[in-house]
Amino acid sequence: TNRTFTMIKPDAVADGNSGAIIKMIEEAGFRIVAMKKALLTQTRAGEFYAVHAERPFYADLCEYMSSGAIVPMILEKENAVADFRKLIGATDPTKADEGTIRKLFAKSMSANAIHGSDSDENAAIESSFFFAGLEQF
Ligand code: GTP
Ligand code: MG
Repeated sequence: TNRTFTMIKPDAVADGNSGAIIKMIEEAGFRIVAMKKALLTQTRAGEFYAVHAERPFYADLCEYMSSGAIVPMILEKENAVADFRKLIGATDPTKADEGTIRKLFAKSMSANAIHGSDSDENAAIESSFFFAGLEQF
């Protein structure tokens, strides 16, 4: 087994979709290793998405990701990173496959309901951004 990192984004939390999304995640075979509710400042959001600092949408992304509560989680499953990216669907919800979390809950390219790490290395970095070792069991 291995692990990935996810966070339910502000639009989905504000709409009351956290429970439905967590249910889909568990039904897809992921074990929740760590979970909490948190609020990012724009600065902390900027640090989390630092790889996108040069992209035209970076300022909007940081503003959006600090606009409301998020639910970060560490998840465990065989092939976790790739399988979770499949479960959430394409970044652009109009291109997301039927049955994916983004197809069901995302509203737009920025308000796209959920994040999923894109590699094992980034999963570890992103997990330690939100959770101390003692919270990871
Ligand atoms: P994350 O799981 O959130 O990392 O999404 P992703 O891996 O599918 O996409 P990526 O890492 O390339 O971009 C991070 C986030 O930036 C996306 O989830 C979008 O919310 C936002 N984003 C990416 N590309 C665009 C874009 O072209 N326009 C806008 N407005 N937002 C974008
Ligand atoms: Mg990404």
